[in-house]
Amino acid sequence: MSHSLHVVGMLRTPQLRSALAEVCTDMNGTRFDLRVAPLEQIATGSTLPSSDLLMVEVDPKSDSDMGMLRDLIARQHSHTAIVATTADATLDDVRKLMRLGVMDVIPQPVQRGDVFAALETAAKLRKGMAPASGTKGRLVSVLKGGGGVGATTVAVQTGCCLAQALQKGGQEACLLDLDVQGGTVALYLDLSDRVGLADLVDLPERLDADLLQGAMTRHDSGLSVVAAPRDVMPLESFTPDFMRRLTEVARSRFTVVLADLPPAWSLWSFEALRQSDEVLLVTQMTVPGVRQARRQLDTLKAEGLDDLPIKVVLNRFEKRWGGTFNMKEVEKALGRKIDFTVANDYRTVSEALDQGLSISDVRKRSKAFKSVTKISDALVSAGSRADGRLEPQLASVSAR
Ligand SMILES: Nc1ncnc2c1ncn2[C@@H]1O[C@H](COP(=O)(O)OP(=O)(O)OP(=O)(O)O)[C@@H](O)[C@H]1O
Ligand SMILES: [Mg+2]
Repeated sequence: MSHSLHVVGMLRTPQLRSALAEVCTDMNGTRFDLRVAPLEQIATGSTLPSSDLLMVEVDPKSDSDMGMLRDLIARQHSHTAIVATTADATLDDVRKLMRLGVMDVIPQPVQRGDVFAALETAAKLRKGMAPASGTKGRLVSVLKGGGGVGATTVAVQTGCCLAQALQKGGQEACLLDLDVQGGTVALYLDLSDRVGLADLVDLPERLDADLLQGAMTRHDSGLSVVAAPRDVMPLESFTPDFMRRLTEVARSRFTVVLADLPPAWSLWSFEALRQSDEVLLVTQMTVPGVRQARRQLDTLKAEGLDDLPIKVVLNRFEKRWGGTFNMKEVEKALGRKIDFTVANDYRTVSEALDQGLSISDVRKRSKAFKSVTKISDALVSAGSRADGRLEPQLASVSAR
Protein backbone atom coordinates (compact mmCIF):
# COMPACT_ATOMS: atom_id res chain seq x y z
CA MET A 1 0.00 0.00 0.00
CA SER A 2 1.79 3.12 -1.12
CA HIS A 3 -1.19 5.54 -1.19
CA SER A 4 -2.27 7.99 1.37
CA LEU A 5 -5.49 6.72 2.92
CA HIS A 6 -8.24 8.82 4.44
CA VAL A 7 -9.60 7.10 7.49
CA VAL A 8 -12.49 8.34 9.60
CA GLY A 9 -13.15 6.77 12.97
CA MET A 10 -16.62 7.31 14.36
CA LEU A 11 -15.65 5.80 17.67
CA ARG A 12 -16.96 6.51 21.15
CA THR A 13 -14.59 4.44 23.26
CA PRO A 14 -11.18 6.06 23.90
CA GLN A 15 -9.48 2.63 23.75
CA LEU A 16 -10.80 2.14 20.22
CA ARG A 17 -9.64 5.55 19.08
CA SER A 18 -6.12 4.93 20.31
CA ALA A 19 -6.09 1.40 18.80
CA LEU A 20 -7.03 2.83 15.40
CA ALA A 21 -4.55 5.68 15.73
CA GLU A 22 -1.81 3.22 16.59
CA VAL A 23 -2.39 1.00 13.55
CA CYS A 24 -2.70 4.05 11.31
CA THR A 25 0.76 5.31 12.20
CA ASP A 26 2.45 1.96 12.11
CA MET A 27 2.19 0.63 8.58
CA ASN A 28 5.08 0.87 6.21
CA GLY A 29 4.61 2.74 2.98
CA THR A 30 1.17 4.12 3.73
CA ARG A 31 0.41 7.64 4.87
CA PHE A 32 -2.72 8.18 6.87
CA ASP A 33 -5.07 11.04 7.30
CA LEU A 34 -7.00 9.97 10.38
CA ARG A 35 -9.97 11.96 11.61
CA VAL A 36 -12.38 11.27 14.38
CA ALA A 37 -16.01 12.31 13.93
CA PRO A 38 -19.00 11.51 16.15
CA LEU A 39 -21.67 9.26 14.64
CA GLU A 40 -24.20 11.87 15.75
CA GLN A 41 -22.83 14.15 13.01
CA ILE A 42 -25.07 12.20 10.63
CA ALA A 43 -28.19 13.18 12.54
CA THR A 44 -27.34 16.88 12.29
CA GLY A 45 -27.00 16.54 8.53
CA SER A 46 -23.65 18.32 8.51
CA THR A 47 -21.08 17.55 5.84
CA LEU A 48 -19.09 14.40 6.41
CA PRO A 49 -15.39 14.14 5.74
CA SER A 50 -14.77 11.96 2.72
CA SER A 51 -12.85 8.78 3.43
CA ASP A 52 -11.51 5.51 2.10
CA LEU A 53 -12.29 3.72 5.33
CA LEU A 54 -14.97 4.50 7.86
CA MET A 55 -14.81 2.64 11.12
CA VAL A 56 -18.01 3.09 13.08
CA GLU A 57 -18.70 2.04 16.63
CA VAL A 58 -22.38 1.13 16.92
CA ASP A 59 -24.77 -0.58 19.22
CA PRO A 60 -26.85 -2.85 16.94
CA LYS A 61 -29.53 -3.00 19.66
CA SER A 62 -30.05 0.76 19.50
CA ASP A 63 -32.59 1.87 16.88
CA SER A 64 -31.07 5.33 16.85
CA ASP A 65 -27.56 3.97 16.15
CA MET A 66 -28.86 1.70 13.40
CA GLY A 67 -30.81 4.60 11.87
CA MET A 68 -27.71 6.79 11.86
CA LEU A 69 -25.63 4.00 10.35
CA ARG A 70 -28.22 3.49 7.60
CA ASP A 71 -28.05 7.23 6.80
CA LEU A 72 -24.28 7.15 6.88
CA ILE A 73 -24.12 4.25 4.41
CA ALA A 74 -26.60 6.00 2.11
CA ARG A 75 -24.32 9.03 1.98
CA GLN A 76 -21.13 7.18 1.09
CA HIS A 77 -19.75 6.22 -2.28
CA SER A 78 -19.03 2.64 -3.13
CA HIS A 79 -15.29 3.30 -2.90
CA THR A 80 -15.60 3.87 0.85
CA ALA A 81 -15.12 0.73 2.91
CA ILE A 82 -17.38 0.81 5.96
CA VAL A 83 -16.65 -1.43 8.90
CA ALA A 84 -18.60 -1.55 12.13
CA THR A 85 -17.22 -2.40 15.51
CA THR A 86 -19.37 -3.43 18.40
CA ALA A 87 -19.02 -5.05 21.82
CA ASP A 88 -20.67 -8.41 22.54
CA ALA A 89 -22.22 -8.77 19.12
CA THR A 90 -24.48 -11.77 18.62
CA LEU A 91 -24.70 -13.53 15.27
CA ASP A 92 -28.02 -11.81 14.76
CA ASP A 93 -26.42 -8.39 15.36
CA VAL A 94 -23.69 -9.14 12.83
CA ARG A 95 -26.26 -10.19 10.23
CA LYS A 96 -28.27 -7.02 10.87
CA LEU A 97 -25.17 -4.90 10.32
CA MET A 98 -24.08 -6.76 7.19
CA ARG A 99 -27.58 -6.40 5.74
CA LEU A 100 -27.27 -2.64 6.15
CA GLY A 101 -24.22 -2.80 3.92
CA VAL A 102 -21.19 -2.75 6.21
CA MET A 103 -18.22 -4.61 4.81
CA ASP A 104 -17.10 -6.24 8.05
CA VAL A 105 -17.92 -6.32 11.74
CA ILE A 106 -14.88 -6.14 13.99
CA PRO A 107 -15.37 -7.55 17.48
CA GLN A 108 -14.05 -5.71 20.55
CA PRO A 109 -11.43 -5.57 21.92
CA VAL A 110 -10.20 -4.68 18.49
CA GLN A 111 -7.29 -6.73 17.17
CA ARG A 112 -4.58 -5.10 15.12
CA GLY A 113 -4.94 -7.73 12.36
CA ASP A 114 -8.64 -6.92 11.91
CA VAL A 115 -7.95 -3.21 11.46
CA PHE A 116 -5.10 -3.99 9.11
CA ALA A 117 -7.35 -6.21 6.95
CA ALA A 118 -9.95 -3.41 6.78
CA LEU A 119 -7.30 -0.92 5.72
CA GLU A 120 -6.04 -3.25 3.02
CA THR A 121 -9.53 -3.69 1.59
CA ALA A 122 -10.02 0.09 1.65
CA ALA A 123 -6.77 0.55 -0.27
CA LYS A 124 -7.84 -2.02 -2.88
CA LEU A 125 -11.27 -0.45 -3.30
CA ARG A 126 -9.75 2.95 -3.74
CA LYS A 127 -7.33 1.74 -6.36
CA GLY A 128 -10.16 0.17 -8.33
CA MET A 129 -12.45 3.18 -8.12
CA ALA A 130 -10.11 6.07 -8.75
CA PRO A 131 -10.80 7.62 -12.13
CA ALA A 132 -7.77 7.46 -14.40
CA SER A 133 -6.03 10.80 -14.34
CA GLY A 134 -7.29 13.17 -16.99
CA THR A 135 -10.49 11.20 -17.67
CA LYS A 136 -13.71 13.12 -17.61
CA GLY A 137 -17.20 11.81 -17.16
CA ARG A 138 -19.99 12.66 -19.59
CA LEU A 139 -22.44 15.36 -18.69
CA VAL A 140 -25.96 14.62 -19.90
CA SER A 141 -28.55 17.38 -19.40
CA VAL A 142 -32.25 16.64 -19.35
CA LEU A 143 -34.52 19.37 -20.77
CA LYS A 144 -38.29 19.26 -20.96
CA GLY A 145 -40.69 20.21 -23.69
CA GLY A 146 -43.41 21.45 -21.36
CA GLY A 147 -44.27 20.86 -17.71
CA GLY A 148 -45.13 17.37 -16.53
CA VAL A 149 -43.96 15.55 -19.67
CA GLY A 150 -41.95 13.14 -17.51
CA ALA A 151 -38.45 14.65 -17.76
CA THR A 152 -37.61 13.91 -14.13
CA THR A 153 -39.01 10.40 -14.43
CA VAL A 154 -36.80 9.76 -17.45
CA ALA A 155 -33.78 11.30 -15.68
CA VAL A 156 -34.31 9.30 -12.48
CA GLN A 157 -35.04 5.98 -14.16
CA THR A 158 -32.26 6.30 -16.71
CA GLY A 159 -29.96 7.23 -13.82
CA CYS A 160 -30.83 4.10 -11.83
CA CYS A 161 -30.38 1.92 -14.89
CA LEU A 162 -27.06 3.59 -15.73
CA ALA A 163 -25.79 3.26 -12.17
CA GLN A 164 -26.51 -0.47 -12.21
CA ALA A 165 -24.89 -0.94 -15.62
CA LEU A 166 -21.78 1.05 -14.71
CA GLN A 167 -21.36 -0.64 -11.34
CA LYS A 168 -20.29 -3.85 -13.09
CA GLY A 169 -17.21 -2.04 -14.37
CA GLY A 170 -16.54 -0.32 -11.05
CA GLN A 171 -17.89 3.02 -12.36
CA GLU A 172 -20.56 5.32 -11.03
CA ALA A 173 -23.29 7.70 -12.15
CA CYS A 174 -24.83 10.69 -10.43
CA LEU A 175 -27.87 12.89 -10.91
CA LEU A 176 -27.82 16.60 -10.10
CA ASP A 177 -31.29 18.01 -9.46
CA LEU A 178 -30.86 21.48 -10.93
CA ASP A 179 -34.61 22.10 -11.01
CA VAL A 180 -33.93 24.40 -8.06
CA GLN A 181 -37.50 25.52 -7.52
CA GLY A 182 -39.47 22.39 -8.30
CA GLY A 183 -37.03 19.50 -8.10
CA THR A 184 -38.55 16.11 -7.35
CA VAL A 185 -35.59 13.75 -7.80
CA ALA A 186 -35.17 13.05 -4.06
CA LEU A 187 -38.94 12.55 -3.76
CA TYR A 188 -39.08 10.12 -6.72
CA LEU A 189 -36.21 8.09 -5.25
CA ASP A 190 -37.48 8.35 -1.66
CA LEU A 191 -34.19 9.92 -0.56
CA SER A 192 -33.62 12.48 2.15
CA ASP A 193 -33.13 16.03 0.89
CA ARG A 194 -31.42 17.09 4.12
CA VAL A 195 -28.28 17.74 2.13
CA GLY A 196 -28.01 18.81 -1.48
CA LEU A 197 -27.48 21.72 -3.81
CA ALA A 198 -28.18 24.32 -1.11
CA ASP A 199 -25.09 23.14 0.79
CA LEU A 200 -22.82 23.73 -2.19
CA VAL A 201 -24.03 27.03 -3.56
CA ASP A 202 -22.44 29.21 -0.89
CA LEU A 203 -19.01 27.67 -1.34
CA PRO A 204 -18.19 27.71 -5.08
CA GLU A 205 -14.50 28.35 -4.46
CA ARG A 206 -14.25 25.44 -2.01
CA LEU A 207 -16.30 23.06 -4.12
CA ASP A 208 -14.31 19.87 -4.56
CA ALA A 209 -14.99 16.14 -4.72
CA ASP A 210 -15.15 15.87 -0.91
CA LEU A 211 -17.67 18.65 -0.54
CA LEU A 212 -19.73 17.25 -3.41
CA GLN A 213 -19.76 13.82 -1.83
CA GLY A 214 -20.96 15.29 1.46
CA ALA A 215 -23.91 16.87 -0.35
CA MET A 216 -24.94 13.62 -2.04
CA THR A 217 -27.30 10.85 -1.10
CA ARG A 218 -27.01 7.39 -2.55
CA HIS A 219 -29.91 5.36 -3.87
CA ASP A 220 -30.02 1.55 -3.61
CA SER A 221 -29.41 1.34 -7.36
CA GLY A 222 -25.99 2.94 -6.78
CA LEU A 223 -27.05 6.31 -8.22
CA SER A 224 -25.68 9.28 -6.24
CA VAL A 225 -27.99 12.26 -6.06
CA VAL A 226 -27.57 15.94 -5.30
CA ALA A 227 -31.06 16.93 -4.18
CA ALA A 228 -32.67 20.24 -5.12
CA PRO A 229 -32.92 22.76 -2.26
CA ARG A 230 -35.59 21.90 0.30
CA ASP A 231 -36.84 25.47 0.38
CA VAL A 232 -37.44 27.32 -2.86
CA MET A 233 -34.38 29.39 -3.73
CA PRO A 234 -34.37 32.25 -6.21
CA LEU A 235 -32.90 31.31 -9.59
CA GLU A 236 -30.38 34.11 -9.17
CA SER A 237 -28.83 32.34 -6.14
CA PHE A 238 -26.91 30.32 -8.74
CA THR A 239 -24.28 31.56 -11.18
CA PRO A 240 -22.63 30.25 -14.34
CA ASP A 241 -19.33 30.00 -12.44
CA PHE A 242 -20.94 27.81 -9.82
CA MET A 243 -22.46 25.57 -12.50
CA ARG A 244 -19.15 25.27 -14.32
CA ARG A 245 -17.40 24.28 -11.11
CA LEU A 246 -20.15 21.87 -10.06
CA THR A 247 -20.24 20.02 -13.36
CA GLU A 248 -16.45 19.95 -13.55
CA VAL A 249 -16.11 18.41 -10.08
CA ALA A 250 -18.93 15.95 -10.73
CA ARG A 251 -17.36 14.89 -14.04
CA SER A 252 -14.00 14.32 -12.39
CA ARG A 253 -15.62 11.82 -10.04
CA PHE A 254 -18.45 10.14 -12.02
CA THR A 255 -18.46 8.38 -15.37
CA VAL A 256 -21.87 9.83 -16.24
CA VAL A 257 -23.38 12.95 -14.68
CA LEU A 258 -27.07 13.53 -15.37
CA ALA A 259 -28.56 16.98 -14.73
CA ASP A 260 -32.31 17.63 -14.49
CA LEU A 261 -32.65 21.22 -15.71
CA PRO A 262 -35.28 23.75 -14.59
CA PRO A 263 -38.05 24.92 -16.93
CA ALA A 264 -36.83 28.54 -16.86
CA TRP A 265 -33.83 29.63 -18.88
CA SER A 266 -31.06 31.43 -17.05
CA LEU A 267 -27.40 32.16 -17.62
CA TRP A 268 -26.43 29.26 -15.40
CA SER A 269 -28.76 26.76 -17.06
CA PHE A 270 -27.20 27.74 -20.39
CA GLU A 271 -23.81 27.15 -18.82
CA ALA A 272 -24.86 23.64 -17.77
CA LEU A 273 -26.08 23.01 -21.33
CA ARG A 274 -22.94 24.44 -22.84
CA GLN A 275 -20.86 22.01 -20.79
CA SER A 276 -23.04 19.05 -21.78
CA ASP A 277 -21.86 16.14 -23.89
CA GLU A 278 -25.44 15.31 -24.67
CA VAL A 279 -28.91 16.76 -24.11
CA LEU A 280 -32.02 14.64 -23.68
CA LEU A 281 -35.06 16.68 -24.69
CA VAL A 282 -38.06 14.92 -23.19
CA THR A 283 -41.51 15.54 -24.55
CA GLN A 284 -44.84 13.87 -25.25
CA MET A 285 -46.95 13.27 -28.33
CA THR A 286 -49.39 16.04 -27.50
CA VAL A 287 -49.92 19.45 -29.09
CA PRO A 288 -48.50 21.40 -26.08
CA GLY A 289 -45.64 18.89 -25.68
CA VAL A 290 -44.54 19.14 -29.30
CA ARG A 291 -44.95 22.95 -29.33
CA GLN A 292 -42.91 23.40 -26.18
CA ALA A 293 -40.21 21.04 -27.41
CA ARG A 294 -40.03 23.04 -30.63
CA ARG A 295 -39.66 26.23 -28.57
CA GLN A 296 -36.78 24.71 -26.62
CA LEU A 297 -35.05 23.74 -29.86
CA ASP A 298 -35.59 27.24 -31.26
CA THR A 299 -34.18 28.84 -28.10
CA LEU A 300 -31.11 26.61 -28.24
CA LYS A 301 -30.62 27.64 -31.84
CA ALA A 302 -31.02 31.35 -31.02
CA GLU A 303 -28.37 30.98 -28.34
CA GLY A 304 -25.95 29.24 -30.64
CA LEU A 305 -26.33 25.92 -28.87
CA ASP A 306 -27.96 24.03 -31.72
CA ASP A 307 -24.87 21.98 -32.43
CA LEU A 308 -25.17 20.28 -29.04
CA PRO A 309 -25.86 16.57 -29.47
CA ILE A 310 -29.59 16.70 -28.72
CA LYS A 311 -31.56 13.48 -28.44
CA VAL A 312 -35.34 13.68 -28.46
CA VAL A 313 -37.13 11.35 -26.06
CA LEU A 314 -40.84 10.85 -26.66
CA ASN A 315 -42.26 9.86 -23.30
CA ARG A 316 -45.55 8.07 -22.60
CA PHE A 317 -45.40 6.65 -26.08
CA GLU A 318 -48.26 4.47 -27.36
CA LYS A 319 -47.95 2.63 -30.66
CA ARG A 320 -51.63 2.90 -31.41
CA TRP A 321 -52.07 6.52 -30.58
CA GLY A 322 -55.49 8.05 -31.07
CA GLY A 323 -54.20 11.61 -30.73
CA THR A 324 -53.51 14.39 -33.17
CA PHE A 325 -50.05 13.26 -34.27
CA ASN A 326 -48.20 10.25 -35.48
CA MET A 327 -44.43 9.84 -35.12
CA LYS A 328 -43.66 11.19 -38.59
CA GLU A 329 -45.70 14.32 -37.94
CA VAL A 330 -43.93 14.90 -34.61
CA GLU A 331 -40.56 14.55 -36.34
CA LYS A 332 -41.67 16.99 -39.02
CA ALA A 333 -42.90 19.52 -36.45
CA LEU A 334 -39.64 19.28 -34.50
CA GLY A 335 -37.40 19.25 -37.54
CA ARG A 336 -35.50 16.27 -36.16
CA LYS A 337 -35.91 12.60 -35.62
CA ILE A 338 -37.16 10.96 -32.44
CA ASP A 339 -34.21 9.16 -30.91
CA PHE A 340 -35.95 7.30 -28.10
CA THR A 341 -39.46 6.46 -27.02
CA VAL A 342 -40.47 5.56 -23.47
CA ALA A 343 -43.60 3.45 -23.20
CA ASN A 344 -46.67 4.85 -21.50
CA ASP A 345 -46.95 2.65 -18.42
CA TYR A 346 -48.64 4.52 -15.62
CA ARG A 347 -48.90 1.51 -13.31
CA THR A 348 -45.20 0.64 -13.39
CA VAL A 349 -43.97 4.24 -13.34
CA SER A 350 -46.21 5.40 -10.53
CA GLU A 351 -45.45 2.31 -8.43
CA ALA A 352 -41.71 3.01 -8.84
CA LEU A 353 -42.05 6.72 -8.03
CA ASP A 354 -44.36 6.13 -5.07
CA GLN A 355 -41.90 3.68 -3.51
CA GLY A 356 -38.66 5.34 -4.56
CA LEU A 357 -37.65 2.36 -6.68
CA SER A 358 -35.98 1.76 -9.99
CA ILE A 359 -38.59 0.41 -12.42
CA SER A 360 -36.36 -2.64 -12.83
CA ASP A 361 -37.33 -3.52 -9.26
CA VAL A 362 -41.01 -3.02 -9.96
CA ARG A 363 -41.44 -4.73 -13.32
CA LYS A 364 -38.27 -5.79 -15.07
CA ARG A 365 -40.16 -7.12 -18.07
CA SER A 366 -42.17 -3.93 -18.58
CA LYS A 367 -41.95 -1.97 -21.81
CA ALA A 368 -41.08 1.11 -19.74
CA PHE A 369 -37.96 -0.58 -18.36
CA LYS A 370 -36.94 -1.83 -21.79
CA SER A 371 -37.20 1.69 -23.20
CA VAL A 372 -35.21 3.25 -20.35
CA THR A 373 -32.54 0.56 -20.75
CA LYS A 374 -32.10 1.62 -24.39
CA ILE A 375 -31.38 5.21 -23.33
CA SER A 376 -29.01 4.04 -20.61
CA ASP A 377 -27.17 1.67 -23.00
CA ALA A 378 -26.69 4.48 -25.50
CA LEU A 379 -25.22 6.72 -22.80
CA VAL A 380 -22.89 4.01 -21.56
CA SER A 381 -21.51 3.32 -25.01
CA ALA A 382 -21.26 6.95 -26.19
CA GLY A 383 -17.84 8.57 -26.22
CA SER A 384 -16.99 11.97 -24.79
CA ARG A 385 -17.59 15.01 -26.97
CA ALA A 386 -14.44 16.61 -28.28
CA ASP A 387 -13.19 19.59 -26.35
CA GLY A 388 -13.53 23.09 -27.69
CA ARG A 389 -16.99 23.82 -26.46
CA LEU A 390 -19.12 26.59 -27.84
CA GLU A 391 -18.88 30.05 -26.42
CA PRO A 392 -22.30 31.26 -25.32
CA GLN A 393 -24.01 34.11 -27.08
CA LEU A 394 -26.77 34.53 -24.52
CA ALA A 395 -28.46 37.02 -26.75
CA SER A 396 -31.85 36.86 -25.17
CA VAL A 397 -31.17 35.73 -21.64
CA SER A 398 -30.91 38.42 -19.06
CA ALA A 399 -28.19 38.19 -16.42
CA ARG A 400 -29.96 36.92 -13.35
N1 LIG B 1 -43.60 6.70 -19.20
C1 LIG B 1 -44.56 7.06 -18.35
N2 LIG B 1 -45.71 6.35 -18.29
C2 LIG B 1 -46.68 6.73 -17.44
N3 LIG B 1 -46.62 7.78 -16.63
C3 LIG B 1 -45.53 8.53 -16.64
C4 LIG B 1 -44.43 8.21 -17.50
N4 LIG B 1 -43.47 9.14 -17.30
C5 LIG B 1 -43.93 9.99 -16.36
N5 LIG B 1 -45.16 9.63 -15.97
C6 LIG B 1 -45.99 10.33 -14.96
O1 LIG B 1 -46.02 11.70 -15.28
C7 LIG B 1 -45.97 12.50 -14.10
C8 LIG B 1 -45.03 13.66 -14.28
O2 LIG B 1 -43.72 13.18 -14.41
P1 LIG B 1 -42.43 14.06 -14.04
O3 LIG B 1 -42.55 14.69 -12.72
O4 LIG B 1 -41.27 13.18 -14.30
O5 LIG B 1 -42.51 15.18 -15.17
P2 LIG B 1 -41.58 16.48 -15.35
O6 LIG B 1 -41.51 16.72 -16.81
O7 LIG B 1 -40.31 16.32 -14.64
O8 LIG B 1 -42.49 17.57 -14.64
P3 LIG B 1 -42.10 19.02 -14.06
O9 LIG B 1 -42.53 19.98 -15.12
O10 LIG B 1 -42.92 19.14 -12.81
O11 LIG B 1 -40.62 19.03 -13.81
C9 LIG B 1 -45.58 11.58 -12.97
O12 LIG B 1 -46.64 11.51 -12.07
C10 LIG B 1 -45.34 10.22 -13.58
O13 LIG B 1 -45.96 9.21 -12.85
MG1 LIG C 1 -39.42 17.53 -13.21
